[in-house]
Amino acid sequence: MFVSVARFWYNLYMENMKILVIDDEKNILESVKMVLSYEHYLVETAKDGIEGIDLYKRWTPDIVILDMKMPGIEGMQVLKVIKEINPFAEVIMISGHSGIEEAVEASRLGAFDFLEKPLSRDKLVLTVRNAGEKISLLKENFNLKVITARKYEIVGQSQLVLKLRDTIQRVAKSDSTVLISGESGTGKELIARHIHQLSARCRNKFVQVNCAAIPDELIESELFGHEKGSFTGAYEKKIGKFESAHKGSIFLDEVGDLSLRAQAKVLRVLEEGEVQPVGSPEIKKVNVRVVAATNKNLAEEIKKNAFREDLFFRLNVVPLHSPALRERRDDIPLLIDHFVAFFSEENNYRPKRFSPRAIELFKEYDWQGNVRELRNLVERLLIMNEGDLIRDIDLPAYIRHREEQQPIDFFTVKTWKDFRQMVDRMFLEQKLKEYRYNVAKTARELDMPRSNLYKKMESLGIIVKEETEADEEPPSA
Ligand SMILES: Nc1ncnc2c1ncn2[C@@H]1O[C@H](COP(=O)(O)OP(=O)(O)OP(=O)(O)O)[C@@H](O)[C@H]1O
Ligand SMILES: [Mg+2]
Repeated sequence: MFVSVARFWYNLYMENMKILVIDDEKNILESVKMVLSYEHYLVETAKDGIEGIDLYKRWTPDIVILDMKMPGIEGMQVLKVIKEINPFAEVIMISGHSGIEEAVEASRLGAFDFLEKPLSRDKLVLTVRNAGEKISLLKENFNLKVITARKYEIVGQSQLVLKLRDTIQRVAKSDSTVLISGESGTGKELIARHIHQLSARCRNKFVQVNCAAIPDELIESELFGHEKGSFTGAYEKKIGKFESAHKGSIFLDEVGDLSLRAQAKVLRVLEEGEVQPVGSPEIKKVNVRVVAATNKNLAEEIKKNAFREDLFFRLNVVPLHSPALRERRDDIPLLIDHFVAFFSEENNYRPKRFSPRAIELFKEYDWQGNVRELRNLVERLLIMNEGDLIRDIDLPAYIRHREEQQPIDFFTVKTWKDFRQMVDRMFLEQKLKEYRYNVAKTARELDMPRSNLYKKMESLGIIVKEETEADEEPPSA
């Protein structure tokens, strides 16, 4: 079953591949075209280099089959030009009397493979298939890279974010220890990853340690490793996080949650650049860049004697603050777009839009859980709403409430009619909310026929979906 499905997709993909054949011999062009069209490739032909290059530019084929010997521009020259236009072009050379030097030169220029005249049908199909596979692998790899890059993008154009990006660029170049502070969900981990990615250490590991998640008695062995049998439960030798991060970066997340005992040990590594695994006589030198993060106020923790001041100074060489989302509300529309694009791509959803009013409500909301809360809500709205547009009415009640609480100035309206409409709307909206947007129930309670209520709502532009989750609470941050 799996094999046949895989074959189906494979064929579908290969069918779409475009192949350009360039040769001065008419019968070669015709026979290659016939063979490959039979294999469901799209094939075009050109009788010389000039025509071939021109067609290459206009048609952008995936694979080129190119004769070495042609009157006018030689195959080798055409190969050079095509590779200049597209360094990733896959070119299969056809050679009559394969001179070894020529073959070497063509390989050096990046030719994919060679076919000898007279052409064998099987060899032709196989070589084209191999080139096709290489291209699909490259494309897949490229798509994955784009998706990963988007996953870790720091989105925002507000002054605060521009400044943050600038600081990240600067500190990434040095080896200094960085301490990132900021509320939960503001992107501290994202910042730490960027610092590593932009640093000279990016080819080595980024090792993350969640200090809050490790039980106190295991923290030492987690960070520094242990020898087999060094304590009950140490069945195997274990490499510590500092050692695995050698030449790379270590991210001490939630560093404010380290116990005092563990703080003393971490301080020693920072001061001496050495670790000693539990139960081992050996002391190992490590070369590690430390990035730490916390959502606690460490100055307060120091006052309470819960955090060592000397460790604080060791970590806080470069302080970096990750701003709360409510301090940079102008980034909210960009973040919405970013997450819509991300989730749609990941799940193959049709692209959806947020209505201007929905975006406004997002901008007004308080986002105690910061970007994480926004991201989760966008994801949920994309799953729950089938239409192409996500409207204000589709948002959970706790986001819409703010709007309803706005004080209203009755005396800005001019006419009696406008005033009546405003009061009607306020009354109906309040009642609908009270009865959880159940129109039938609201009509019953207001003692009016349901059809009248619907008409009234329509004339006032009140849209509700029945069964809206009106009583939802915001997630606890
Ligand atoms: N500026 C941003 N652009 C795009 N995505 C962001 C941004 N800031 C945060 N995110 C996303 O929000 C989520 C939370 O970010 P992250 O885990 O880095 O926050 P945190 O500050 O480490 O939170 P906590 O203190 O709870 O650990 C992640 O999915 C992250 O990708
Ligand atoms: Mg985090």
